Amino acid sequence: MLKAISGLAKKHRIPCQVSLEEYIACGIGTCLGCAVKIRGGYKLVCKDGPVFNLKEIFGIKISKGTLVDMLHRTRKYLGREYEAILERIRSSPVKFADETGHRTNGQNGYAWGFFTEQDAYYRIEESRGGIIAKETLEGSHENDVLVRDDYAGYKNLPMKQQSCWAHLLRKSHEAAEEKNASKEMKNLHENLKTMFEELNKILEMPFEKKERQKYYVKYENDIKKITLINY
Ligand code: FES
Repeated sequence: MLKAISGLAKKHRIPCQVSLEEYIACGIGTCLGCAVKIRGGYKLVCKDGPVFNLKEIFGIKISKGTLVDMLHRTRKYLGREYEAILERIRSSPVKFADETGHRTNGQNGYAWGFFTEQDAYYRIEESRGGIIAKETLEGSHENDVLVRDDYAGYKNLPMKQQSCWAHLLRKSHEAAEEKNASKEMKNLHENLKTMFEELNKILEMPFEKKERQKYYVKYENDIKKITLINY
């Protein structure tokens, strides 16, 4: 598929980089578990990528001038849609954000992602500063809910915030596993896990507004009780 896309990109003179995925084990280039075969050898997705240009993968050469021209043309054709995606995310009542280390051609940086169920908006930046999230989500309503990990860069954004389940469960697991973890802490992790499983089942059920409202009240109360316990 990537080869076909690269052929199309070349034909229409559209800039093309590919982001490759592999299971990451060590993440620092020592285990070779993420090696991918490319033209003339192997590259490590964790260390050399994950973004590679067409020349590296398929041997397609594009000069710098052509690349700049392609970027201008792409912006002309897709720029408006890019802005429209951002506007939809800003006006969505629930949105998600995440950021992670990112290397492009050996340069360290960060990939930021902002999402709704329908849209995804990415920014590749040198910085992990909170200003990136602030700028991107500017204009969001104060009652909107931002689902994110516990990275401090999101903290001061003027909207409601919710920890994502993956991080919450990981943190409660770590805390419960600590040597001196209290009984309450261990219970907390078990309770959160059960709650997560129950909520997943509820989400799989056909949507019924009244039922959902009942569940909402129930789980809201459960969460309040959890937050009142001394850990
Ligand atoms: S994950 Fe170990 S080398 Fe990439």
